[in-house]
Amino acid sequence: MLAMQSLRGAVKHAGSGPRLLFAVRHVSSSSQHFGRARPLSCTDTDQPKVLITGGLGQLGVGLAKLLRRRFGKNNVILSDIRKPPNHVYHSGPFIFSDILDYKNLREIVVNNNISWLVHYSAVLSAVGESNVALAKEVNITGLHNILDIATEHGLRVFVPSTIGAFGPSSPRDPTPELCVQRPRTIYGVSKVHAELMGEYYHHRYALDFRCLRYPGIISADSQPGGGTTDYAVQIFHSAVKTGDFECNLRSDTRLPMMYIDDCLRATLEILEAPAESLLSRTYNINAMSFTPQDLTQEIQKALPDLKVTYNVDPVRQAIADGWPMALEDSAARRDWGWKHEYDLSELVRTMLSHIATSNQLAQAS
Ligand code: SER
Repeated sequence: MLAMQSLRGAVKHAGSGPRLLFAVRHVSSSSQHFGRARPLSCTDTDQPKVLITGGLGQLGVGLAKLLRRRFGKNNVILSDIRKPPNHVYHSGPFIFSDILDYKNLREIVVNNNISWLVHYSAVLSAVGESNVALAKEVNITGLHNILDIATEHGLRVFVPSTIGAFGPSSPRDPTPELCVQRPRTIYGVSKVHAELMGEYYHHRYALDFRCLRYPGIISADSQPGGGTTDYAVQIFHSAVKTGDFECNLRSDTRLPMMYIDDCLRATLEILEAPAESLLSRTYNINAMSFTPQDLTQEIQKALPDLKVTYNVDPVRQAIADGWPMALEDSAARRDWGWKHEYDLSELVRTMLSHIATSNQLAQAS
């Protein structure tokens, strides 16, 4: 309903249907220069103006930090419906934005002259299964609003997809870019919908839609919420804090994973890629794959006393059993030069050193 209203709004602004198409194409192609590497002497006003939705989730703060270093602090606005912690509030522009409120989104885009939109708001796999109505609202209605607002204002829009966009009937090791996608979670269904809608808007309205299928993302400073791959973050904190960890997936569950720095760099790289290099608008990206047992053994090289027990959550296990074990990502490597930097041993080394440093800082303060 909201989506229909907003598209009608766009048609009213631009005139008839064909004129809408022309107007959007024009804005979209002129905004493509933002994606090129710019000389360092560029002023803040030459840079894209970026809005990140769902900014207080696992990835928003880290992405804002990376984009602010590149485009200037004031050119990247983090947003969420929650109040940010002090360090986030003081690190750069932060505003309230509700992706379910189209008027609020439009005001933000217009008042801040937004040119790129990174849409991180989403309800993840495990939480989605416990609240399907919420997942539908946020992941589907919210997505419609984002695509419509981006089309209406000629924005470049990045929407993450996921390993969860595949299901038990997809080839799993590795999972190709193009194959059967019949996920069994509302999260997965909503992400296939996002891929298809984004690509449809790209072809129909020349929307500059860009999408990566993220593996499970592992980060030290920010916690994921409600995902099936969350164990691979929690185990590090437990290993350092108590030396005990109870894993909710079976020890042999192999899933694709990626360190956050690789994920955020991939996101910046696809955002900056020249449009003509993107032969596709949705790409797999892969870094490493491991099981809870592999991860435990690698952490035990540094913390030999770590004890892991298994108490399998049947909902999460069923989800993981239908997901890829590895993603085939040669198209991303070919089209825009994707290359991961972190493998399992580098991941473990980096995570443990980050957590140790944050604990020391917390004790000192
Ligand atoms: N990390 C997500 C989840 O586990 C997958 O994209 O739900």
